[in-house]
Amino acid sequence: MSGLIDKIQKHIQKKPISFHMPGHKNGRFIPKKVKNLLGEKYFKADLTELPGLDNLYAPEEAILKLEEKLSRYFGLPRAHLSVNGSTAAVIALLLSFFRPGEKIAIDRMSHVSLYHGMVLGDLIPEFIYPHWDEEYGLPVNKTPKAHNKSYFLTNPDYQGLIRDLTELKTDRLLLDAAHGGLIPLWRPDFFKNIAGFAVSLHKTGPFPNPLAAVVFRDKGIEVKRALNLIQTTSPSYPLMAAAEGGVDMLLKVGARAFQKAKELSDHFKEYLKKRGIGFLQDKYPADPLKVTIKAADLGVSGEKIAAKLMKKGIYPEAYGPGYVLFMFSPGNTEKDVKKLINIIETIKGTDKKIFIPKNPFSFQPELKLTPREVYYAQEKLVDLKASVGYTARDGVTVYPPGAPVLYPGEEITKEAVEYLEYHLNLGVKVTGIYDGRIKVVR
Ligand SMILES: Cc1ncc(COP(=O)(O)O)c(C=O)c1O
Repeated sequence: MSGLIDKIQKHIQKKPISFHMPGHKNGRFIPKKVKNLLGEKYFKADLTELPGLDNLYAPEEAILKLEEKLSRYFGLPRAHLSVNGSTAAVIALLLSFFRPGEKIAIDRMSHVSLYHGMVLGDLIPEFIYPHWDEEYGLPVNKTPKAHNKSYFLTNPDYQGLIRDLTELKTDRLLLDAAHGGLIPLWRPDFFKNIAGFAVSLHKTGPFPNPLAAVVFRDKGIEVKRALNLIQTTSPSYPLMAAAEGGVDMLLKVGARAFQKAKELSDHFKEYLKKRGIGFLQDKYPADPLKVTIKAADLGVSGEKIAAKLMKKGIYPEAYGPGYVLFMFSPGNTEKDVKKLINIIETIKGTDKKIFIPKNPFSFQPELKLTPREVYYAQEKLVDLKASVGYTARDGVTVYPPGAPVLYPGEEITKEAVEYLEYHLNLGVKVTGIYDGRIKVVR
């Protein structure tokens, strides 16, 4: 049986006349500007559930085969394609593995999709607070110790830091492994004791945005039903074809390609060491392809380093006052790394003290309402100064590093208000505060 790419090619070769959706009719009814940007072929491949092209909602042919390849690559018995990122994959796992009212332990610094899945599934978060690395101004997730609990942990994290969870005894350990798409290429046993995980294929692998997968073990669990609940019934065929091509590539040449990317990041790390510039992944176990440099060692803030790099055409993954994060992939070249090093070589600041946000995890507000209760609650705006004792309506987050100071439904404490006022006065970006006011639940 040929795959989706072949089937789409064959269909295009027939020069078909479309009296079906999508309305652009194989690209005839599309602005020229858009076609110039994306190419004619994209629209010829943008088909629908025609005979032979299978159906993501209930796959039986080429899409099922693609999902089987994903499961083989990740090493767990079942996998489904997500055409809405890890966002949909995380929510689908929450809706299928847990029942309303259940408590799930999650990292305090989790992606917002975990919280959103809890609203939909009427679940209750129990937060695991991270260690705060003051050198970089970044959280480092802790390994929980309690067995037989329900967990949904972020591993690896955005910076590529990896926790060893093999000692955790529970059959309900789920992972947000959004950043772990290439892990099977260098840690084939990584998902060994995991019941299920979400992974963004697009974040690290040879796939376009927003392809992802949900991968799991238990044959009795209906993850597809949950995915179908939240995903479109009109998935993009160019995207699904790209998913097939990407997974074929990883199965065939992934390990070799990964090795090449690792050599590039190793070369960068050697340079950093020689120049006395620290990097986060030297302190903690981590993905070899992520490098977070310590801004203080260059004598300027991470924002200034990033600005200088971007001015010269180099775009890092993320930055904050204390750090700049670089992500390597087999798509990078020696020339890229050479240019990066050449620019960093010119950065020598004299700032003795770089501003690092205070630890946003040093206080632990109490959850007064469940995610679902607060979602449907009535709200009003009050002055931040007068908000102590109220329940927060929205999440309040300081950027960078995107650390949640308050989750919706948490009691606003004196420490939280003081923390927010301190950072707002310094001009730090905070979401969830509107002109000095905060939304609370009446
Ligand atoms: C840890 C983590 N989980 C989940 C997501 C959501 O992934 P996606 O963008 O594929 O929906 C992200 C995206 O930034 C993330 O960083």
